[in-house]
Amino acid sequence: MTGDHYFTAEPTTPARPREVEFSVAGRDYTLTSAAGVFSADRLDPGTAVLLRKAELPTAGTTGPLLDVGCGFGPITCVLATSAPSATVWAVDVNERARELTAANAARVGVADRVRVAAPDDVPADLSLAQIWSNPPIHIGKAELHELLLRWLPRLAPDGVAWLVVARHLGGDSLHRWLIEQGWQVERHASQKGYRVLRVTR
Ligand SMILES: C[S@@+](CC[C@H](N)C(=O)[O-])C[C@H]1O[C@@H](n2cnc3c(N)ncnc32)[C@H](O)[C@@H]1O
Repeated sequence: MTGDHYFTAEPTTPARPREVEFSVAGRDYTLTSAAGVFSADRLDPGTAVLLRKAELPTAGTTGPLLDVGCGFGPITCVLATSAPSATVWAVDVNERARELTAANAARVGVADRVRVAAPDDVPADLSLAQIWSNPPIHIGKAELHELLLRWLPRLAPDGVAWLVVARHLGGDSLHRWLIEQGWQVERHASQKGYRVLRVTR
């Protein structure tokens, strides 16, 4: 065992690659995952609720889209597949997660429209049509707030952010906090203890 967390920048745990299979909107995905990234053995149930309940982008969505905390890339791969005209930025602090997301984008056939980046490498002037995130709650409340305050202001005026947070991990208090920060927040769906929040200006 090592002291790695899933949000460790450079996991030292042996990768031990494995496959994760799931279906979203009638399409089957088989992605490569590995030790040292979030929910390495299955599609996280919160991510599954997000991808089932939120309004996926469509052929008419031009983007750019952003997946904050992409992990091994399930949200990024679904977004890029659902919106074939859009560029998807996939951001994570974990280098192994970024490598897996890039490999999975290639595996799904969307690598030409997926930009995998460390947070500081996203162009500052990017105006985002949509932000998607199963955010890293375990980094702590102050850090989570900082993360959201970093990315949400990059939404285009008519942009929308979709977030999923477990109720027992503070989904409802995050909802209230976002409203206090001046965002419009709708609890779009609630399933299996997860809140799907739709955030707009
Ligand atoms: C809850 S996981 C979700 C992973 C993936 N989107 C999924 O659904 O399986 C959150 C991710 O955020 C990443 N993360 C942690 N701190 C971050 C930060 N400051 N900026 C970007 N990503 C971060 C973690 O490494 C982790 O991969």
